[in-house]
Amino acid sequence: MGPLLLCSLLKCLLFVILPHFPTQFVSSMQRPCLDFERSALLQLKESFILNQSASSYPLAYLKVGSWKLEGQGDCCSWDGVECDDNTGHVIGLDLSSSFLYGSIDSNSSLFHVHHLRRLNLSDNDFNYSKIPSAIGNLSRLSHLDLSFSCFSGQIPSQVLELPKLVILDLSANTRLELQNPSLKSLAEKLVNLKYLNIDEVNASSTIPQSLANLSYLTYLSLRNCELRGEFPTEVFQLPNLQYLRVSYNPSLTGRLPEFHKNSSIESLKLTNTGFSGELPKSIGNLKSLSFLSVGDCHLSGPIPSAMANLSQLNYLSLNHNGFSPGNLPWLGKLTKLTQLDVRSTNSHGDILFSLKNLTQLISVYLYHNQFSNRIPSWLGNLTQLKYLDLGVNKFWGPIPESIFTLVNLKYLALDYNHLSGTIKFESFLNLKNLKKLQLSGNNFSLLTTITFMNVTVPKFKLLTLSSCNLFEFPDFLLGQDELAYLDLSGNKIDGLIPKWIWGFCAQTLELLDLSGNFLTGFHQPSVVPPWTNLRFLDLRFNKLRGSLPIPSASIYQHFVSNNLLSGEVSSMICNLTFITILDLSNNSFSGMLPPCLDNLSKSVWVLNLRNNFFRGPIPAVCEKGSKLRMIDLSQNQLNGHIPRSLVNCTMLEILNLGNNQIEGTFPSSLGKLPELKVLTLRHNGFHGANWKTKNQRVSQVANL
Ligand SMILES: *[C@@H]1O[C@H](CO)[C@@H](O)[C@H](O)[C@H]1NC(C)=O
Ligand SMILES: *[C@@H]1O[C@H](CO)[C@@H](O)[C@H](O)[C@H]1NC(C)=O
Ligand SMILES: *[C@@H]1O[C@H](CO)[C@@H](O)[C@H](O)[C@H]1NC(C)=O
Ligand SMILES: *[C@@H]1O[C@H](CO)[C@@H](O)[C@H](O)[C@H]1NC(C)=O
Ligand SMILES: *[C@@H]1O[C@H](CO)[C@@H](O)[C@H](O)[C@H]1NC(C)=O
Ligand SMILES: *[C@@H]1O[C@H](CO)[C@@H](O)[C@H](O)[C@H]1NC(C)=O
Ligand SMILES: *[C@@H]1O[C@H](CO)[C@@H](O)[C@H](O)[C@H]1NC(C)=O
Ligand SMILES: *[C@@H]1O[C@H](CO)[C@@H](O)[C@H](O)[C@H]1NC(C)=O
Ligand SMILES: *[C@@H]1O[C@H](CO)[C@@H](O)[C@H](O)[C@H]1NC(C)=O
Ligand SMILES: *[C@@H]1O[C@H](CO)[C@@H](O)[C@H](O)[C@H]1NC(C)=O
Ligand SMILES: *[C@@H]1O[C@H](CO)[C@@H](O)[C@H](O)[C@H]1NC(C)=O
Ligand SMILES: *[C@@H]1O[C@H](CO)[C@@H](O)[C@H](O)[C@H]1NC(C)=O
Repeated sequence: MGPLLLCSLLKCLLFVILPHFPTQFVSSMQRPCLDFERSALLQLKESFILNQSASSYPLAYLKVGSWKLEGQGDCCSWDGVECDDNTGHVIGLDLSSSFLYGSIDSNSSLFHVHHLRRLNLSDNDFNYSKIPSAIGNLSRLSHLDLSFSCFSGQIPSQVLELPKLVILDLSANTRLELQNPSLKSLAEKLVNLKYLNIDEVNASSTIPQSLANLSYLTYLSLRNCELRGEFPTEVFQLPNLQYLRVSYNPSLTGRLPEFHKNSSIESLKLTNTGFSGELPKSIGNLKSLSFLSVGDCHLSGPIPSAMANLSQLNYLSLNHNGFSPGNLPWLGKLTKLTQLDVRSTNSHGDILFSLKNLTQLISVYLYHNQFSNRIPSWLGNLTQLKYLDLGVNKFWGPIPESIFTLVNLKYLALDYNHLSGTIKFESFLNLKNLKKLQLSGNNFSLLTTITFMNVTVPKFKLLTLSSCNLFEFPDFLLGQDELAYLDLSGNKIDGLIPKWIWGFCAQTLELLDLSGNFLTGFHQPSVVPPWTNLRFLDLRFNKLRGSLPIPSASIYQHFVSNNLLSGEVSSMICNLTFITILDLSNNSFSGMLPPCLDNLSKSVWVLNLRNNFFRGPIPAVCEKGSKLRMIDLSQNQLNGHIPRSLVNCTMLEILNLGNNQIEGTFPSSLGKLPELKVLTLRHNGFHGANWKTKNQRVSQVANL
């Protein structure tokens, strides 16, 4: 992957989360431009390769296409060029989203266009150039937008010397740094700023108090800038502030201030920061507030019912905070709400009742609270719903039929409630857009046989049907080919895993949980179907027989404990070089341990072979650089000495060799393992307890 492609990909991702500031330049007919400015512009055009991959905005187009000498020689009429009516000087250049690709430096003819006031180069690919220091020559600049443009390195001090700057947008240049000069000097020098956006720029510093001096600010966005320290409360009180975003600075602390009635704040975005303390009641004074996100902070105390006054609120996320338990009846007043996220907020009560009038709702996340009552049938009236997560609450009763009329649903989670009754899977067939469905852990029975033939089943990406009283693999799975995540654990499925699973979601499946059923094995023993991206396979607590099923080399976690598997463990296991957890415990494996086990030690954290019939000596388990933290070989018939190679297991915290036939003396070098906390050697043939300990950190020696 070349740097260009990589940068474009990053931009695609960032575009989703960082919408653009809505103003745009207009170019209009003016008097002819000056020759030397025209040739500077033409030279500028020539200095780039025009490449569609350089811009991600869907409406991007080739602005410099109209830049030509012949015919329209008047550069004031070119796309993206704005001239001064009186002097003819070029004063505005909007080359945003123009497919420009290539490096730029201080020699660029751009810096000969001295009269520029507004420069917009947003959404191009400048090939990780530094921002040229010659930018300082454009001393008339009031608007500078270099966002989404693949600049890198330190922002030059010349930017901070631009005396007229009021709009500065350097956001979404993930390799740009603001350390030398710092955000502090920026705030001290650019005192006229109205708009500052440095999202994703690495400022890596404590947040400067001087930000509170930028009294003209209307827009301040510092998302993911590696800022630390205490956020200056005075910033909230800046007289013109409408938009404040400091999200994704987890080391940034702060408290919310008392808000005044005359505040013009419209958006407050503090997600994933260290803000603590209470949400003040005076938040209800923010009459213009339309967007509030304080998810993943450290807020506490009650959620104030004064939030009922936020009549303009469109987006509300309070998720994952330590609020004191309470209910949220005031939500019913927020009739403009489209997005609601109150996951993990210690809330309870009949929340769905409060949502009755909120017909604009598109997404509702209530996960992990104590919300209760029946799911009302009028929920079907919230027809805009795309995302509905009621998981891990105390809803009870049957699932109303009306839920199956919400045809816009993409995500539906009802898992881990007390829902009852019988659901026909057929009911979900109306929901053509459904991609993720979670039904695990309720008290209902799911009838998965589809009785009519000619139906299109939604193509799922995620499906969790744990504890749904299933007796067989649902036959609708046959048509699925996009699943990444499938959980059928805790059902009553017995016998062989059906043959069709062989070609099932071969490229897409990442997680498969079949634990806690009565399965006896794959049709073809010892080989798991070739799921090339499988990361997690859980087959625990079944009745699997035969030899160890070995998944594809992509696997991270492989669980087969508590089955009836037997025979030797093939050395093919040593090819699983990404594996972090391997759990073969409580089976009937026998024979020697494969001699190549140490191949795994660079990735594997947990190796559990407990309670099998392994015999013979313990092979080398750790190479240098081993990541192993837990080794459990207890309750086998291993013999010989403890291998010296264990000294390579420098991360080891737990070592259990109990109930084997290991003999000899304990190697004193093992006392040096720096992380070892639990060591169990009971019921072996050791003599001489001189291993006892040179190591102070062995806090619990369980040799009972
Ligand atoms: C344009 O970008 C694409 C994708 O990175 C690259 O493959 C191609 O070579 C580029 N073309 C030019 C002319 O630079
Ligand atoms: C730059 O152009 C983009 C895309 O046209 C626009 O969204 C943005 O607001 C412009 N920047 C400034 C400072 O006007
Ligand atoms: C992009 O940068 C690389 C490395 O600095 C350089 O080799 C290459 O020529 C540049 N490409 C363009 C189109 O400027
Ligand atoms: C600018 O051009 C001059 C002469 O061509 C060259 O010596 C100098 O290195 C260039 N400067 C930059 C920053 O590329
Ligand atoms: C930029 O300004 C410096 C110092 O004022 C001057 O030496 C240089 O020639 C200027 N560059 C351009 C491209 O105008
Ligand atoms: C940000 O800059 C600091 C200081 O230079 C550096 O330690 C840190 O790794 C950088 N962060 C990223 C994500 O590059
Ligand atoms: C804020 O501005 C005032 C007046 O210009 C100045 O005295 C003070 O030091 C500044 N505060 C900070 C933190 O920069
Ligand atoms: C819904 O709106 C009606 C009419 O305005 C009102 O009477 C009712 O109390 C509202 N319901 C809730 C739950 O707020
Ligand atoms: C739901 O919609 C139906 C049909 O539009 C309507 O009759 C009913 O009153 C609505 N229920 C509520 C609670 O708004
Ligand atoms: C199934 O659908 C096809 C095409 O849509 C149609 O020709 C056929 O008659 C249908 N069969 C049944 C049993 O409905
Ligand atoms: C491990 O993988 C390599 C390369 O994919 C293959 O040649 C070898 O046979 C495999 N070893 C075992 C024991 O399966
Ligand atoms: C530690 O691992 C290295 C391979 O990484 C191996 O050469 C060395 O023999 C091992 N040390 C012991 C004591 O087994």
